[in-house]
Amino acid sequence: MPGDARAQLAICARSEQALPTAHRLAELLQLPQVPPGTLPSDCKSAQALLLVDTQTLALQLCGRKMPGAVAVDFGAADMRHRRGAGHNELLGKAVGIGKKRELAVLDATAGLGRDGFVLADLGARVRMYERHPVVAAMLEAGIRAAQTSSDAWLAGVVSRMSLCSQDARQTDPSQLCQADVIYLDPMFERRDKSAAVKKEMALFQFLLQDEPEDEADLLRWALQRPVARVVVKRPARAAPLAGMTPSHSIRGKAVRYDVHVLAGLC
Ligand SMILES: C[S@@+](CC[C@H](N)C(=O)[O-])C[C@H]1O[C@@H](n2cnc3c(N)ncnc32)[C@H](O)[C@@H]1O
Repeated sequence: MPGDARAQLAICARSEQALPTAHRLAELLQLPQVPPGTLPSDCKSAQALLLVDTQTLALQLCGRKMPGAVAVDFGAADMRHRRGAGHNELLGKAVGIGKKRELAVLDATAGLGRDGFVLADLGARVRMYERHPVVAAMLEAGIRAAQTSSDAWLAGVVSRMSLCSQDARQTDPSQLCQADVIYLDPMFERRDKSAAVKKEMALFQFLLQDEPEDEADLLRWALQRPVARVVVKRPARAAPLAGMTPSHSIRGKAVRYDVHVLAGLC
């Protein structure tokens, strides 16, 4: 979808009660608003709507036959299923869960926070960085909803997560001193073809169409920080990012974690 994604995005309050939040977000993100209750299927004045409710923030492409809305919901069934099915072990192994008490991970490409959440669920403290303001706002809303959830497990996991809405490379050096591992998942090359993932990909392709392709720089930056390891998530058969051979890789069916070991974890 060519063009400036931000210029094609608008904010829509889903109810009268959500109007103050919608106004605040419109000002913060510098986005226009469409009348409250506008349906994405009928909207002609934008290519995507950020749908604002009192508690949630969802993004949906406009037009008929477009995929449904995407929101950050850490309590959703698929997050719980992944946990039960043990999908998260490879990621935990790659960052070194169990090698150090309260491992501190700097997730430099937070996105919708799935991997950050998995790492926090495995016991790590996770500081996430997301530079796209709309993605960061969606993630912040998801964290806030989980914080106020009556589900003790959910609230406990997000208590180990924090978010900075900025480029990870602008992080304060004092934050870097506290990190053991930098985690990178810079690309939306998706590995499973489920309907939920296709929906997410379509939205992110729209939203991130103008973002710089600077993942090689990000890896070079990470490798020069005072951390014990840098972990890069890659599609299973892709070449190592920036052609940099990792110390070792943890391989799954669809993804691979390239681990650059810089020091011991202790
Ligand atoms: C593939 S997504 C990450 C998905 C994430 N791992 C998850 O589980 O939801 C990549 C994200 O990284 C963000 N990003 C890329 N480079 C960044 C940087 N230098 N600093 C902060 N965020 C960055 C993009 O805006 C995008 O939202």
